[in-house]
Amino acid sequence: MTQPTRPLEPDEAALQSLTEACVAFVREHLATLPDQPSFDLDGAEALAASFHEPPPERGGDLRALLARLRPAIGKSYNTAGPGYLAYIPGGGVYAAALADFVATSVNRYVGVERAAPVLSRIEEVAVGWLASLMGYPPSARGILTSGGSLSNFSALVTAREARLPEDFLRGRIYFSEDTHHCVPKAARLAGLPSGCLRALPVDERRRLRPRDLASAVREDRARGGLPFLVVANVGTTNTGAVDPLPEIVAIARDHGLWVHADAAYGGFFRLVPGGERLMPGVEQCDSITLDPHKGLFLPYGLGCLLVRDGDALRRAHQEHATYMQDVVGESGGGFADLSPELSRDFRGLRLWLPIKLHGLAAFRDQLVEKLALARMAAEQLRADPRFEVLDEPQLSVVAFRLRGPDGASEELLRRVHARRRVFLSSTRIEGRYVLRLCVLSFRTHADRVQEAVDALREEAEAALAE
Ligand SMILES: Cc1ncc(COP(=O)(O)O)c(C=O)c1O
Repeated sequence: MTQPTRPLEPDEAALQSLTEACVAFVREHLATLPDQPSFDLDGAEALAASFHEPPPERGGDLRALLARLRPAIGKSYNTAGPGYLAYIPGGGVYAAALADFVATSVNRYVGVERAAPVLSRIEEVAVGWLASLMGYPPSARGILTSGGSLSNFSALVTAREARLPEDFLRGRIYFSEDTHHCVPKAARLAGLPSGCLRALPVDERRRLRPRDLASAVREDRARGGLPFLVVANVGTTNTGAVDPLPEIVAIARDHGLWVHADAAYGGFFRLVPGGERLMPGVEQCDSITLDPHKGLFLPYGLGCLLVRDGDALRRAHQEHATYMQDVVGESGGGFADLSPELSRDFRGLRLWLPIKLHGLAAFRDQLVEKLALARMAAEQLRADPRFEVLDEPQLSVVAFRLRGPDGASEELLRRVHARRRVFLSSTRIEGRYVLRLCVLSFRTHADRVQEAVDALREEAEAALAE
């Protein structure tokens, strides 16, 4: 029998060389990050086309492959850099990259507890830290997901299982019109089509109005619907609005509704001194979505779902199979019982390691700074009569526009982006074009926010004249 060559298992020297090549690549990238353009898509299409090729029969040289990758990385929004103020930034702390490297190198199976009981416990403990941060009792359980969309999906399925019969098409879900679009998407994926959804209007600060919720629930019930879930926002993507949780919870209790808090963007602000006051009542919600890849500054790919009654999460997800009998006991055991996944990585390490390495204070200080920077930007823009700031930031999003036609604000965004130092995004509110500046990356500090505000003010005149 001929022996296969074994390049898949590098010897020690090769291992060192391969690893050093990656470390050198990453170090150079991070050293130049603040000076890299805030976005660069020039020639991206042509470069993308150059990657259309068949798989090679023989392997290549890692350094050459990384060299090819470098310009490909450059052709993108610089989502890790300090100038990224669009959508919801995070940055991506390096400790999480190290955690991923270790976790995938040791490649342990953390789907069922018996296969890696200690690693499972480490992940459980890290999720427990987040649960207690949100004021949840020890009976709460949670899972780490790939992001807020999947967390909201599992929350919705858990609520559906807990509150509705198997024939659930009369189920009704309530949320504000500013709720993230992954919620209606999750509903559709969970078998609840648009007729089951009630997007309610918001108040002047873009928050769900409890009175409207109560009357919509009553009306639906009178028509034979089965109201079962309200999704409340702890920081909308549009403006960072926080819905009035205590009132929503009270209505939900009266009508037997599950309350899910989408705190994907805003939840981690509970870490700051007095943070409970930013989202009072979140601890009374039945479930909470958090996105560590937003407010804990971890790299993309880490969301979290917490469920107050851990058994409800299990009942919604647990299945049995005879071929699992060696690793799963009668009562089950492990993250597979709590989530749609079976095989999974040791995801918990990318949460556990950064917190253990840096300590919570490092994250708290950053979050305090982000709130202050958003207020600073809002104050300066409000002081300029050419700008209209929609609201005092409830968290770290500033929503604003030029006083003038929509086209002026659109032109302003183009002009500021052309400087390639900061990157903002836009939305529509009450039919009007609105700019958003969201401060959340751990790499964004006063100098870059000031630069953004200065650029907006410097380009305003020309944009209004267009
Ligand atoms: C409030 C809110 N919920 C949910 C999501 C979806 O999260 P993800 O993109 O991690 O799936 C986002 C994303 O920005 C968000 O801002």
